[in-house]
Amino acid sequence: MNELQAVKRIDQLRREIHDHDHRYYVMADPVTSDEAYDHLMRELEDLEKAFPGFVSPDSPTQRVSGAVSEGFATVTHSSPMLSIANAYQESEVLEFDERVRKLLGRSRIAYTIEPKIDGVAVALLYEGGLFVRGATRGDGERGDDITANLKTIRQIPMRLVESAGLPERVEVRGEVYIPTEAFGRFNEEQEEKGEKVFANPRNAAAGSLKLLDPRIVASRPLGMFIHSVVDGEALGAATHAQALERIRDLGLRVVEHLEVVEGVEKALELFRQWESKRSDLDYQVDGMVIKVNDLEAHRTLGHTSRNPRWVLAYKFPALEAVTVVRDIAAQVGRTGVVTPVAILEPVSLAGSTIARATLHNEDEIRRKDIRVGDTVVIQKGGEVIPKVVKVVLDQRTGSEKPFQMPDGCPSCGEPLQRFPDEVAVRCTNIRCAAQIRRRLQHFAGRNAMNIEGFGEALMDKLVGLGWIGDPGDVYHKLSVPKLAGLERMGEKSATNLMLALEESKICGLARVIFGLGIRHVGAQAARILAEYFGSMDRLSGATEEDLAGLSEIGPIMAASVVDFFSHRPNRDVIDKLRQAGVRMEEVQEKKGDSLAGLRFVVTGTIAGRSRSDVETLIRSEGGRTGSSVSKKTSYVVAGEMPGSKVAKAEKLGVPVIDFAALEEMIRKAAS
Ligand code: IVH
Repeated sequence: MNELQAVKRIDQLRREIHDHDHRYYVMADPVTSDEAYDHLMRELEDLEKAFPGFVSPDSPTQRVSGAVSEGFATVTHSSPMLSIANAYQESEVLEFDERVRKLLGRSRIAYTIEPKIDGVAVALLYEGGLFVRGATRGDGERGDDITANLKTIRQIPMRLVESAGLPERVEVRGEVYIPTEAFGRFNEEQEEKGEKVFANPRNAAAGSLKLLDPRIVASRPLGMFIHSVVDGEALGAATHAQALERIRDLGLRVVEHLEVVEGVEKALELFRQWESKRSDLDYQVDGMVIKVNDLEAHRTLGHTSRNPRWVLAYKFPALEAVTVVRDIAAQVGRTGVVTPVAILEPVSLAGSTIARATLHNEDEIRRKDIRVGDTVVIQKGGEVIPKVVKVVLDQRTGSEKPFQMPDGCPSCGEPLQRFPDEVAVRCTNIRCAAQIRRRLQHFAGRNAMNIEGFGEALMDKLVGLGWIGDPGDVYHKLSVPKLAGLERMGEKSATNLMLALEESKICGLARVIFGLGIRHVGAQAARILAEYFGSMDRLSGATEEDLAGLSEIGPIMAASVVDFFSHRPNRDVIDKLRQAGVRMEEVQEKKGDSLAGLRFVVTGTIAGRSRSDVETLIRSEGGRTGSSVSKKTSYVVAGEMPGSKVAKAEKLGVPVIDFAALEEMIRKAAS
């Protein structure tokens, strides 16, 4: 293909992909299969790779840039992003209407009414049809340039639909949000990964947009609704509704359920309907926005120092109900976190019957002083399960009973563990029935034992049949004839799985350690532990002090490792793995033992080498490495700007050497 042909085909592919994106992400009406779409995308990627000169920023391949930014540039908004006045009662809405009628000298006003999306406000700028800049609201005058992050959101088109006649420049404003259901899943995943859990979808959306790495933003389930056009009249619109229609034609995703009404009464009626219907929406809506439809009237009405006079947010009352706590149960989640849950006298709230509410953790119960028998106020916010907001104290009779977290796991009975950095209480038993599915998925996963063909559906089936109760069973309880007898599992896949299991036995100590799913021990830490201890036996016998001697292992991880091996069932599983022939010794690439018997602490910047490189070198020569200087330390290896460790070494009389001296030491001993 020559350049001319390539450029033509690239252009054609981009148009097709933009078209499909628009149908899929904006209109929710796809006309192609995922497979065909991927095919187009791959062809475009290949062509752009072959002809890198033709890569342009609006190409669908450029949604996720690899660059991590150091911070956001500041953007001055073309016109201030004002906030809107809130109303909580009908009377306030009537007053608003009266003011508007008086100022405009009309007896009846045409309004639009649309959902107020509980998201994060952003401004998007399109020039020549291309998305050129996106910014946060900031202080209203100036915001952060978050273009790279916004580009990762598929519901924000990178270019506008041309057939609609492109305006030279158009700025729109709207809300970035996370759909309620996706938020639940996202938070669960965060929890599993040991990462930040968010209180509600809005916080999660705001947190996501603040990330400096667009690749992470791309993995967040963000959506976008446009609710304002900065200069609708420039697009030929006379009303707000027309302006939104115009930009919908241009390919932008506009707020749903907008209605034009004559007179405020009709708006109030629609508000009342939405009060109960809002929970049907897959996004959080905290009120309805009532706007004067006529754009010329916007100019006449102008704004106060804070709010435009043509718009009002009529907020929904918080979804609350009062009921009685019948019991407080401890519940183990799939990740081992034990959560206290209030079992409630069933009560109806926003169209559904609520019989349970999360109490988060023991600290929270103490703080709110929630007891069994209490009358409580519950609230349904962005969370999937409702929560208890407060106790109605004057309903107390004195017979209410405080809650005590059980010492043992409600599912398996093993002692529960509370790690120093967490409020959550956990069951760390690898055999706990409540967690077995999660544990198995992790164990078989790509960075762990990497057992090919062992998918979730099959695991579920094997667990359901009672064949597998822990990761050790995977190697003991399965066979080709047994597996081949299962539905949708021929002899061939059964054989393949058994082969994959066989293969996984020699995947190496680091993967086995990681596969155990020890809290706080990620793949990298597992490698360090494997390298340092060299065998599962030595690791399982390590004390917190031994572990803390490794500079990469902090006290929290050290405590977690020791806790893990302190549980009998966990040790039993390791025995089972060993009996099955899973290799649990590191075949170490040991170069020598020139540093055997010596303990080192590495500190400061050592030209061209990371600290952990130097430590690996020391260990490969039989030496030990640690992070704190003590009398037992043989040498401190110091680079530039070494800090307090050198001072401490000098105080204790521990010799301080540089990297060259370390190399010399290895050379001498070897010769
Ligand atoms: S109109 C002059 N419409 O709510 C401001 N705002 O609390 C025009 N919001 O800053 C905004 N849904 O970010 C408008 N349908 C909607 C909205 C909406 C959510 C946000 C917006 C605004 C904030 C005020």
